[in-house]
Amino acid sequence: MSLRFDLAANAGGRAYRLLAGLVVPRPIALVTTVDAAGRVNAAPFSFFNVMGVEPPIAVLAPADRDDGTPKDTAANLMANGECVIHLCDEPVAARMVECSRALPPGEDETRRAGFAVRPSEIVRPPVIVDCPVALEGRVLDVRRYGENRLVVVELLLAHVREGVADPATWKVDHSAYAPVGRLNSPDGYLRTTDRFRIAPPGA
Ligand SMILES: Cc1cc2nc3c(=O)[nH]c(=O)nc-3n(C[C@H](O)[C@H](O)[C@H](O)COP(=O)(O)O)c2cc1C
Repeated sequence: MSLRFDLAANAGGRAYRLLAGLVVPRPIALVTTVDAAGRVNAAPFSFFNVMGVEPPIAVLAPADRDDGTPKDTAANLMANGECVIHLCDEPVAARMVECSRALPPGEDETRRAGFAVRPSEIVRPPVIVDCPVALEGRVLDVRRYGENRLVVVELLLAHVREGVADPATWKVDHSAYAPVGRLNSPDGYLRTTDRFRIAPPGA
């Protein structure tokens, strides 16, 4: 037997609790952006995924704050369209969470969290060198659906820690790469180290 949860009649907090708890694991994007003065911002987003590869695109959903103003990431993305999306493994997970602290605009979460950064190649936001993966990207589109804001980002360049992806085949070696995911708010995370295989049909 199953229970019914009327999502259409319960948008907002209850729908978040249910859906964000059910649709797991979610990947986490730690996103660096810059404001008009070039000041760095970093924040994690788990309403995030890669959505296509021709061109390579990712979608994230940086919401508004409770006072109705866009979070710094959303404001920066709408103002100048540039970002670096990082994937995080366990050694950087606590620092990623530290970057979710609401700091005043212009205060650099990477510094507060103790991350090291270096310049990106294409975009102005920096690469966090401690993260195993950094994806330089540029905004293609921003859509609003009610209170939701979806930002579509074209991914331009991937920086991948040596040993994680084969430079000839581009295949990823998951014995060398274990990003963390989000399980539930406020403090639930999970590892990607417990794996199994299912052969595809006909294999
Ligand atoms: C793991 C994790 C995932 C998060 N995912 C989202 C998300 O998808 N959308 C969102 O608006 N906030 C999300 N947050 C909250 C933001 O990171 C937080 O509001 C942050 O302060 C925003 O920073 P900014 O104002 O510098 O952009 C998440 C927080 C954590 C720790």
